[in-house]
Amino acid sequence: MSKLQRAIHKAATDHKRNKAEVDSHQEAPADPGSDRRVSHSADLLGENRIHVDFDALVDFGVMASEEHKRELRDSMRRIKWPVLANAFGEQRATTPRGNVVMVASATAGEGKTFTTVNLALSIAAEKDYDVLLVDADIAKPRASESFGIIDRAGVIDYLLGEVDDVTDVIVGTDVPGLSLLPAGKSHEHASELIASSRMKEFVAQLNENFPNTVILFDSSPILQTNESQVLSHIVGQVLLVVAANTTSQPAVLEAARILEPENVVNVVFNGMNSFFRHKYRYGGYYGYQSRT
Ligand SMILES: Nc1ncnc2c1ncn2[C@@H]1O[C@H](COP(=O)(O)OP(=O)(O)OP(=O)(O)O)[C@@H](O)[C@H]1O
Ligand SMILES: [Mg+2]
Repeated sequence: MSKLQRAIHKAATDHKRNKAEVDSHQEAPADPGSDRRVSHSADLLGENRIHVDFDALVDFGVMASEEHKRELRDSMRRIKWPVLANAFGEQRATTPRGNVVMVASATAGEGKTFTTVNLALSIAAEKDYDVLLVDADIAKPRASESFGIIDRAGVIDYLLGEVDDVTDVIVGTDVPGLSLLPAGKSHEHASELIASSRMKEFVAQLNENFPNTVILFDSSPILQTNESQVLSHIVGQVLLVVAANTTSQPAVLEAARILEPENVVNVVFNGMNSFFRHKYRYGGYYGYQSRT
């Protein structure tokens, strides 16, 4: 059994076991109005800021309703800590570009956008780190839609050279530590634009302007589009969301094979389609670095 197969097997087993481990780390609620420090991005973005409408996020299906929030937060903590350790902690030295993270999946509808939004809120609640949620699903920009920023210039406008400075397309929010970067206009050559050298400049500019920030990309399905494959060359970490009981192991293995070999890939089993549907339960989280 390869490391990847073992990782998937382990995540699936953990998922079945359905351990409700609650992370011992305490976290401030990911809601506006906390007494968190003012983030660097807030200074930079000045007035270009939106109100995050949590009810709208629930309506769009990217946020848990009140009764499931606590459980979801616990799940997000289990996903978040290893990501932060790779980005800024003890694994930093062995994880190039570790703060640049893509949420991906083999096929459509496995929970990428849901995971991205909730993980972003969880990271934003950290005192020491900020998060910039980048909507890189150009064809289906549901994250941009959910936050009501679908009509704004974004990734594609920057890559087309229509915007010079990344800070002009970043939208601050009233959730301390959370900034957003919309997908921008749709474009038939989105893959080529993401593969262009301007994309590297884009990430370099983001890193320069946003220290201690996780740059979190929501992406499109790996087996159905080209953009995520291209994006995997830009990022250091990939969270591979797998819809439990739905996506076949060969599909997950094929998706992982397509990713850049240097990526640190972490599998997140999303139990949305299991018996626990609508209970927002995420299963065994398991990280590994090699797909050999
Ligand atoms: N953990 C979960 N619990 C409950 N519902 C979930 C969960 N994860 C995802 N969903 C729901 O499943 C649907 C698909 O999720 P989502 O849009 O996040 O998938 P996606 O991978 O981003 O899809 P696409 O590839 O089309 O962009 C949404 O309606 C979402 O609300
Ligand atoms: Mg999506």
